[in-house]
Amino acid sequence: MMKKYELAVIPGDGIGKEVVPAAVKVLQTAATLHGGIQLETTEFPWGCDYYLKHGKMMSDDGLEQLKNFDALFLGAVGDPNKVPDHISLWGLLIHIRREFEQTINIRPAKLFKGLTSPLVNPGPFNFLVIRENSEGEYSESGGRIHKGEDEIAIQNAIFTRKATERVMDYAFKQAVLRKGHVTSATKSNGIVHSMPFWDEVFNDVSKCYTGVRTSSVHIDALAAFFVTKPSDFDVIVASNLFGDILTDIGGAIMGSIGIAPAGNININGKYPSMFEPVHGSAPDIYGKGIANPIGQIWTASLMLDHLGEAALAREVLRAMEEVTEAGIKTKDIGGNATTDEVTNKICLQLQNNI
Ligand code: NAI
Ligand code: MG
Repeated sequence: MMKKYELAVIPGDGIGKEVVPAAVKVLQTAATLHGGIQLETTEFPWGCDYYLKHGKMMSDDGLEQLKNFDALFLGAVGDPNKVPDHISLWGLLIHIRREFEQTINIRPAKLFKGLTSPLVNPGPFNFLVIRENSEGEYSESGGRIHKGEDEIAIQNAIFTRKATERVMDYAFKQAVLRKGHVTSATKSNGIVHSMPFWDEVFNDVSKCYTGVRTSSVHIDALAAFFVTKPSDFDVIVASNLFGDILTDIGGAIMGSIGIAPAGNININGKYPSMFEPVHGSAPDIYGKGIANPIGQIWTASLMLDHLGEAALAREVLRAMEEVTEAGIKTKDIGGNATTDEVTNKICLQLQNNI
């Protein structure tokens, strides 16, 4: 039986308008070759150009329009020459993340064939950082009082059992599908209320997954291990701030921001999840046809995986890596191929493989 997925596609700004069509082409090629799935895409023209015409980043009933899709596929948002970043990002990207309760952020990183890691001896690392995306250190609770030498700033970190359990449960579920190892990023030796709580919840949740190995590592040491022995990790679960920092290290040791993928996951099933690469709209190279489509295509693979099409997701990843390994690469990763050349080559490779 044919399975159908409805995808909302938002290219957004800058190179989003180049790499999103490229990734959609790869997705459609993969779906056709698979034969059993149909991807129906609906494109939304929201972004900074839309803002210049309509005075808003998305239409007023935008969330209503998006909420019944199976997944959202986003390029990048932001064009500081047209619209200030705080308006563009909050008006579209962050708006969707918040309203659609996308409380978990996932970012895989691996030693990608054909790419040079800045690490001298990276080893074959392949890990997935699961970041709590709705509370923790990034909270609006707190304030500033007094001025001058009496000035006080208070910033409260909020950890609820509900959000902590759900991010850890998600991490363990991912580990079951991977190498069966979860590392918790903690700091209970220095942060004496929230982090011992974090450790306790980790311990509780781990009891439901007796087949999964666990480690608990203080964030400072963990950041160092991401550099010295990244191959030791499988799934890492982290609070909002710790996850933010770890995912940047993950991206950096892969060798280019142009390849890193991400997903914003809704797990209560009320709204769709949203998949977007880590990079932004890269206005400095937009329009030249040289943007690296790999980040967006890997993001498409993450989305397929999330939709339950794990085998097809793996085929997309494999084709991408084979093309990169064959030296067909854009300029940011040391080649001279265009966006289209890389994309077409990946489609061809899929045809050879499937
Ligand atoms: P950026 O990620 O757009 O660019 C940083 C550097 O990496 C640039 O030199 C760019 O040319 C290069 N680069 C990025 N992606 C690439 C790709 N696929 N292929 C080749 N080179 C690539 O970050 P930047 O310049 O700080 O921000 C530009 C705009 O994007 C801003 O408006 C910013 O707010 C927005 N932004 C949006 C994000 C999102 O939508 N999630 C994330 C980061 C930035
Ligand atoms: Mg960051």
